Order: sequence, then structure tokens, then C-alpha cells
Amino acid sequence: MSFQSPKGTKDVLPEEQPYWERVETAARRIARLYGYERIDLPVFEDTGLYKRGVGAGTDIVEKEMYTFEDKGGSSITLRPEFTAGVMRAYLENGLASRPKPVKVWSIGPVFRYERPQAGRFRQHTQFNVEAIGESDPALDFEIMSVAFHLYEELGFRDLSFQINSIGCPKCRPAYLEKLSGYFSSRKADLCSDCGQRLVRNPLRLLDCKNPACQAGIAAAPAISDSLCGECESHFRTLRSFLDDRKRPVTVNHRLVRGLDYYTKTVFEVWAEGIGSQNAVCGGGRYDGLAEAIGGPATPGVGFASGIERIVLTLKQQAAADQAPSRPRPAVYFAHLGAEAGRQAVALAAECRAAGIETVMGFGERSLKAQMREANTRGAVRVAVIGESEIAARVVQLKSMEDGGQSSVPWAELTAILKAGEAGA
Ligand code: HAM
Repeated sequence: MSFQSPKGTKDVLPEEQPYWERVETAARRIARLYGYERIDLPVFEDTGLYKRGVGAGTDIVEKEMYTFEDKGGSSITLRPEFTAGVMRAYLENGLASRPKPVKVWSIGPVFRYERPQAGRFRQHTQFNVEAIGESDPALDFEIMSVAFHLYEELGFRDLSFQINSIGCPKCRPAYLEKLSGYFSSRKADLCSDCGQRLVRNPLRLLDCKNPACQAGIAAAPAISDSLCGECESHFRTLRSFLDDRKRPVTVNHRLVRGLDYYTKTVFEVWAEGIGSQNAVCGGGRYDGLAEAIGGPATPGVGFASGIERIVLTLKQQAAADQAPSRPRPAVYFAHLGAEAGRQAVALAAECRAAGIETVMGFGERSLKAQMREANTRGAVRVAVIGESEIAARVVQLKSMEDGGQSSVPWAELTAILKAGEAGA
């Protein structure tokens, strides 16, 4: 075969689906528990939405977007994140007239042209949660709680919750000036990327991973000392909610995040062992986003969590006996001879109509081969039909668990399988 899946993408095969289902089921349940409703958006948007929303100088917009011109000459971008699209939909559909905050969640693919490595893909899937229209720090706490609750529900241990406040347009400029001044006097010690960040986005210097920059970053001025009264009080109130609920969070002055729309609260959740880019979740408040894309001032807060990284964490942390198992059909029809094959088709249809998960053998294969297949598929029982069973209008029903076997009339089969399912 001459093709492979594109670099940085992966196929999620059937055996991995139970993990995905467990995560998606938990995500839906928790979203509902907190009163969030589902919203689905297009997978592509006008490129300008991300340039203005996420920020033209960010790595995402500068280096990572899948942007193309469509046949009508419009510049289109596959979504590199949800938040700008959710805000676009909120403004476009008049959701502002609904009771605030408007609380919505989505699950879907996100595209970023990144260097692929463990836990980092060019197509990944986000569980994205947003609450729009309210600036109360209790809402920041609620959004963080949705993430906490999800990971708790999945049984995660050893997660590290990091929070910071990166201020607002009132207080951040003075801090950025202070930061630029500090790093300018140490320019010679900075890596080449940080040399550029110093000019374009000095805040991002703080999360540089290059060992050469670490000493300078450790001694850099912290934004917490430069917050305005409003940002300081917002952050203090959020921390008091987290303390009251005994949430294990660390205030991390270096946490700045890679999207320009954030104001005040930013947070991430880190897990060991999911690769170098090890955030399972990232989010924060974005009170300036609506204006940046041409709408009225509208506060908002949210987070997104990569399902691939959640599944990786689940696989690493869940004990082997807790691993989700593949679905097991209740019955497999094995048949010998053309007439028996026809009868298997009819009985399988009856079973499915009765809601019994049913599979059957195809083609003309030996009973041994069909038993092997039933075993591989994890069938709970096998119903065997041959010439003598046709004559007597029965199947030989064999338990794959204890090997017990009995002759069951066709007319009683669905009732017996249902009773067996209930007892299983
Ligand atoms: P983000 O931190 O860029 O934030 O991405 C959120 C999460 O998506 C990450 O924590 C990670 O779990 C996952 N993720 C990101 N990039 C990749 C990748 N290349 N491969 C695998 N997983 C990845 C945002 O996207 C913001 N829109 C979150 C947000 C919502 N802020 C407010 N509301």
C-alpha cells in the first residue's frame, strides 16, 4: 500500500474506542452536571477570526494554522482551537440575549501544524468548555471545577493544577515594560527565540524551556506584584474559592499560555508521563476576545482538554483490571450448511429486533473456525445450527464462559438470551 496516515495524525482503532467512550461519557456527564449545553461549530472558519481572536503574533497563528484559499477565493483555516469560534457563534446568533453566563461545551477535532511527538499531534480532539457573559471569579472557579471533576471521575492521581493571573489591558502594559527592561539588560544570555519574543511578546519569555534562559526567568519580576486592584481582587477571590474547597493548586508566575486573548485568570493541569508537552488541560479568562473580533465587550472564561492526552493518562494511571473492555456480543450464530446459514440470518434479525447484541459467522467455514471467531469477538454464547437443529427447530446454545450447553427451541431463544443477559 502506498499511503500512510498524514504525519502527526493517528487512527483510533476499535480496541482503543472503549477508552474514548469512557472519556466522552464522563465529559458529557460532568458538563451536564454543571449546567453546560452542547454547541457544535464548523471545523473551519474565516482565517481573520483566528488572526484577530487568537492573535497574529502567536505561534498558533504564525506557524501552526492549516490555512488555504477555497474555490471562491476566501481564506479559510481549519480550527486551531474552539474559543474564537464559540465567541463568533455567541455574537452571530444573538446568544447574548439569553440568561448569562451562556454555558456551552463541544467535542471535536482541532488542527495545528506542530512537530509531532508523544501526546502532540497535528490533529487532536478537544473537550472544550466555555462560560460567556459574566466576570464573577466564582465562574472561573466553576470552570476549573468542571476540569477537576472530570479528572476525579476518571480516577486520575498526581495531577498538578497551575494557576496565574496575567492581568488586563489596564495593568499588563506596565508589567510588560518592566519585563522587557529586565530581559533587555540580559539579552546576551537569552536563546535566539527569546531574543525575538523580547521584541514581539515578552510575556512568552517566561515559559521558555531552553536551559540557557532559566536563571534569568527565575529572577524575573512576577506579574502578581504589578496587578491592578481589580485583577488582584479577582485572583484573590478565585484563590479563596480554591482554598475553601481544598483544591491542590500551585500559583505559577511563569504560566502565561500561548493565546493572546487571555486576561486575568490562566490555568493548566499537568500530568506526568504524557510527553514533553504535558498539559492535559489549559484555559483561562478572555474578557477582551469579543471586542477583538468586532463585538461588544463580553467577558468569558473556559478551558479545553485534549482527549488523546486524557486517554494517554488514563492508560498510564488506570490499573490493568480497570481498563475499559471492548463490548461483548451476547450471542454468535455459528452455522453449517446453506439452510442453516439462512436460518442464522433470520434468528440474528429476531435477536437484534429484541435488542440483543448479536453477531454471526459468514461464508462456509468449519465449526471450529467459527468457534475461534466467536472467542476472538468475545461472544458470551454461541448458538450452533446444523441440519439436525433445523429439523428439530432448535439451536445448541453454548456458554463461552463455562462451556455448558443446552438445546433451545427457536421460539424461546430471545427470551433465554435476554434472561441470560440480565443474569450476566
Ligand atoms: P490550548 O492550551 O492550546 O488551549 O489547548 C488545550 C488543550 O488541548 C491542551 O491542554 C492539550 O490537552 C490539548 N492540545 C493542544 N495542542 C495539542 C496537540 N498538538 N496535540 C494533542 N493535544 C493538544 C486552547 O486551545 C484554548 N482554546 C483553551 C480555552 C478554552 N481557553 C479558554 N477556553
